[in-house]
Amino acid sequence: MRKLQHIISSRQFTDRQFLQDLFLSARHMEQDDIGRCLLHPLGGRILATLFYEPSTRTRFSFEAAMQKLGGGVLTAENMRESSSAAKGESISDTIRVVSGYADVIAIRHYEEGTAAEAARLSPVPVINAGDGPGEHPTQALIDLYTIQKELGRLGGLRIALVGDLRNGRTIHSLLPLFGLYRQDVSFDLISPPELKLPPKYIDMLKEMNIEYRESDHLGGSIESANVVYITRVQKERFSDPAEYERVKDTYIIDAAITLQLKSDAIIMHALPRVNEISPEIDNDARAAYFRQAKNGLYLRMALLNYLLS
Ligand code: CP
Repeated sequence: MRKLQHIISSRQFTDRQFLQDLFLSARHMEQDDIGRCLLHPLGGRILATLFYEPSTRTRFSFEAAMQKLGGGVLTAENMRESSSAAKGESISDTIRVVSGYADVIAIRHYEEGTAAEAARLSPVPVINAGDGPGEHPTQALIDLYTIQKELGRLGGLRIALVGDLRNGRTIHSLLPLFGLYRQDVSFDLISPPELKLPPKYIDMLKEMNIEYRESDHLGGSIESANVVYITRVQKERFSDPAEYERVKDTYIIDAAITLQLKSDAIIMHALPRVNEISPEIDNDARAAYFRQAKNGLYLRMALLNYLLS
């Protein structure tokens, strides 16, 4: 696979070897956290985090990753209000200017396609840190890395994707990655009818010849799943608050539900959660979501190192 300049969509990852090299690098970052930080391989380089939507994990882990590697960070707490976007400056002008100050840009925006537009204009690498209901490719890399780390494999898996599959950009980015493991993976797509996976992703599963089943209830699927990946219902994408209220608590993984899971299954969530995972299961060994969030730091260290070296 040729060297990537920008990370906009997980469809750019077309090579298992690339993913394995990246995961090995992330593993090295974790194993030699302090030593690697002392080497400062990205000393003198700057990351700009342009976030037009809220974030805890993505922004902080990108910034921590850059600082651990010796680089610096330019950041705005909320680009919509505290940057010149509030005065009406366009994204194009912002990217043209910031790319003169920074060596890499991570952007999160509420409109699908904005990261791709930024990449077209930017002479420095652009990373899509989430574009509306579109994609979140670095989260998908973290998710794949987590599955490999937790279960020791990426094939021979039955994966239940649960919740808001219409708007869940982490899911939209995860599915194409499994195109590289298509013979050995099947999906149970569990959502309320209003929040089904959009047709373009169903078509993609068909094109990749990946087995899938759609359902609106947990029972009958999660008992045989190796991975149960539940998503938050994305309140911010609903134009009708009543529709959100109707579907928001459709699925809740609690202690009773975990009794139905395999003893070696894992429960994943990109976080933040609202009600869809009860805190009562946080200490269950199968609850992998906080380990998943921690993996984000090391995966993003590996990714920044790849893009800037
Ligand atoms: N997983 C994730 O994207 O979390 P944040 O919205 O907190 O960045």
